[in-house]
Amino acid sequence: MIRPERFSNLPEYAFPRLRALLGAEAPGGEPIDMTIGEPKHPFPAWVEQVVAETAAGFGRYPPNEGTPDLLAAISAWIARRYGVAVGPERLMALNGTREGLFNAVLALCPETKGGRRPAVLMPNPFYQVYAVAALAVGAEPVCVPATAEGGFLPDYRSLPPETLDRAAIAFLCSPANPQGSVASAGYWADLLALAERHDFLVLADECYSEIYRDTPPPGVLAAAAAAGADPERVYAFHSLSKRSNLPGLRSGFVAGGSEGISRMRRLRSYAGAPLPLPLQRVAERAWADETHVAENRALYAAKYELADRVFAGVPGYRSPGAGFFLWLPVDDGEAAALRLWRETGVRVLPGAYLGRDAGGGNPGRGYIRVALVAPKAETERGLERLRSCLYE
Ligand SMILES: Cc1ncc(COP(=O)(O)O)c(C=O)c1O
Repeated sequence: MIRPERFSNLPEYAFPRLRALLGAEAPGGEPIDMTIGEPKHPFPAWVEQVVAETAAGFGRYPPNEGTPDLLAAISAWIARRYGVAVGPERLMALNGTREGLFNAVLALCPETKGGRRPAVLMPNPFYQVYAVAALAVGAEPVCVPATAEGGFLPDYRSLPPETLDRAAIAFLCSPANPQGSVASAGYWADLLALAERHDFLVLADECYSEIYRDTPPPGVLAAAAAAGADPERVYAFHSLSKRSNLPGLRSGFVAGGSEGISRMRRLRSYAGAPLPLPLQRVAERAWADETHVAENRALYAAKYELADRVFAGVPGYRSPGAGFFLWLPVDDGEAAALRLWRETGVRVLPGAYLGRDAGGGNPGRGYIRVALVAPKAETERGLERLRSCLYE
């Protein structure tokens, strides 16, 4: 039987690995799952009504790139949030950002760069689709440590010029999953300047952009406008999964250059799946409404405060700037996750499952990722047990 080689070296996905690690072990208490980044706060009450009112749309093929109304709502949101004008020709609705991140690489990464195999730069640890997308197009994934020394953001400038010249795409996740770090306007400006110098694209995964504490994280679209960057170089990915607690809606968007977006639209029209029409109507309404987003943020804010109280005085504890994960330092993440489950029933993800050893060790190894998605009382029980098991 012939089989492809391109994905043969992929490690097992994080969650099956965790099941293999903990599977044979009984929980040491009432199980509390703090592993998966699935929002659990309520989604807006009007969602069901919009689906019901527009259900006839399930009987039609939906428009490929998003309805004009949805693209207009997204364009208005970008103008409000980032103060920049991005017209509908520079937008495409996505079935969640994961497929968009993957398909953008398919649509935008060249076969070669300067006659050589292109490189795709990504932070380490990282959201796994970045590496799979690079492998799908035959590019080399280059994982760049995003560790405490660098403020948990990758320093792409430290790469050898040879690698930077081969780079076709650089991913950046801000606010970052798993570390909760936020790229400043200056960081974005430096990355855009580097991209200009070495002629690569910047794909900004900003799906946690609305889950912040006090200050809205700067976005790549505003940084690009301020720097006068070529819009064809910059792609921002946003999602309703975290912002509006609608991970099952599978809805987001990409904003970029009109030429690149038209490549993505063309690929979608041959091989992709547009969003069902009623779900596009829900998305349109969601992007137009900030009330539910502010309510959602307040629920997370209460849990950040809770975490700060529970972990006060724990050496190395860092309160995340945004997103909904704690990235907690431990000696060995796998051993800590196993012990925590065995002794308390709290389930967390070993940080190494989100990173790679790209030479110099896996930068996730000494961490566990803890999702603050459950209701506050359950989160509190989980964090208290975590602290007493691992830090006392
Ligand atoms: C960093 C990051 N990017 C992208 C996604 C994909 O989100 P969605 O496809 O639901 O928009 C996630 C989901 O957990 C994520 O953590």
